[in-house]
Amino acid sequence: MSEGKRSSFTGGLGFILAAAGSAVGLGNLWRFPYLAAQYGGGIFLLVYVILAVTFGFALMTTEIAIGRKTGTSVVKAYKALDKRFSFLGYLAAIVPIIIFPYYSVIGGWVTKYIAVYATGNAAVSSDTFFGNFIAEPVEPLAWFAIFLVLTAIIVFLGVEKGIEKVGKFMMPVLVVMIIGITIYVLTLENTMSGLYYYLVPDFSKFSPKTVLAALGQLFYSMSLAMGIMITYGSYLKKDVNLNACVNQIELFDTGIALFAGLMIIPAVASFSGIEGMNQGPGLMFITLPKVFAQMPAGRMVGLAFFILVFFAAITSSISLMETIISFAMDKFHVSRPKACIVVLILAFIIGIPSSLGNGVWSNITLLGKDFLSFFDFISNSVLMPIVAFLTCILVGWVLGTKFVVDEVKRGGCKFGREKLYVVLMKYIAPFCIIAILIFAVLEGLGIITV
Ligand code: TRP
Repeated sequence: MSEGKRSSFTGGLGFILAAAGSAVGLGNLWRFPYLAAQYGGGIFLLVYVILAVTFGFALMTTEIAIGRKTGTSVVKAYKALDKRFSFLGYLAAIVPIIIFPYYSVIGGWVTKYIAVYATGNAAVSSDTFFGNFIAEPVEPLAWFAIFLVLTAIIVFLGVEKGIEKVGKFMMPVLVVMIIGITIYVLTLENTMSGLYYYLVPDFSKFSPKTVLAALGQLFYSMSLAMGIMITYGSYLKKDVNLNACVNQIELFDTGIALFAGLMIIPAVASFSGIEGMNQGPGLMFITLPKVFAQMPAGRMVGLAFFILVFFAAITSSISLMETIISFAMDKFHVSRPKACIVVLILAFIIGIPSSLGNGVWSNITLLGKDFLSFFDFISNSVLMPIVAFLTCILVGWVLGTKFVVDEVKRGGCKFGREKLYVVLMKYIAPFCIIAILIFAVLEGLGIITV
């Protein structure tokens, strides 16, 4: 008995670390704080946390259970569950293909900031530094290419093991740094209004768009609705307590996001006032350098911080690229080196508009958005909710939730929140997800106004 317990513990821990390494990335550090700032602070936070412990929990449980039960990756997994749902596997597989290029564009910005802090450029804390940088035609493209090539080299050489070791060391350091910077930020002047904005919900700022944004962020941050957790689940040992793993991954991912918001949003209030909340994707790059400029040894802190963000980003981009590569190898029967080169080139080409959309191509908009925000919107706010909705239909109505429940309870494990899980998958989640999606898309297209 003690034998079994020990192996399930180590198996579980390795799995949790791998899944958390994929989940924790730019989504937590860059995307969550700017969305929370943009969508009304406290109200976004509240909606996000409610969605995380309900929809997030239900979908992550479902995906990991599907993976462990079918023992295969996304396209084959949906096919194995129900032939009519094969298309769902493809739909899920498209999501990383859309995300990977623009993820690497932002990875490039992070890499640039490492260089800036390493060489010491005092202008980095000015209001215009970031805007001027991303408006340049060539430089951001070059950093994007560097980040992409670094990712590709690691995926090609398969040195994930080494990266994993770095990751295990880096995650705790990142947590300590975020907490340290947060404490420092709260000693600055005028942070109370930002803290209040972030922590106290203002219900007048609530709209269906808040829920759509929070839902999209949830999927993105936890790497859900794109088959990643199915693939990870397929590596999970049968005797590991699935329910416990889900809880820990969720806690870790959400905790880091919440702290990242706490680190950035009160600082925005301090430097730019509450009006500064609407800065969008540039938030992390504009606000934090101002904080570092005020800190003792700020240049070193800034350098260390962006190196950590870089590691969090590259572990995620490696896993994004790996997903695409294994899909391509399976589907088109090409070798790994070939797949790597083709994916690298395609990702660069697809990423070009996202990189130029802040400068030379900023007059071109799709649905009123620049290219990067457009790709982000299509994947997180449209495709992922569709995949999540259809997964709920498949599991809640076509197959029945029993197979997931049995998979979770395998070997006598407890399934905390089992009843909640069943009700969510069958009734609440599909209805809410489709309602939010339709509403927000109609509004985005200007057909209805809220
Ligand atoms: N969850 C990652 C983050 O928070 C981003 C991400 C989305 C991702 N999908 C992924 C990472 C797939 C790896 C694999 O930054």
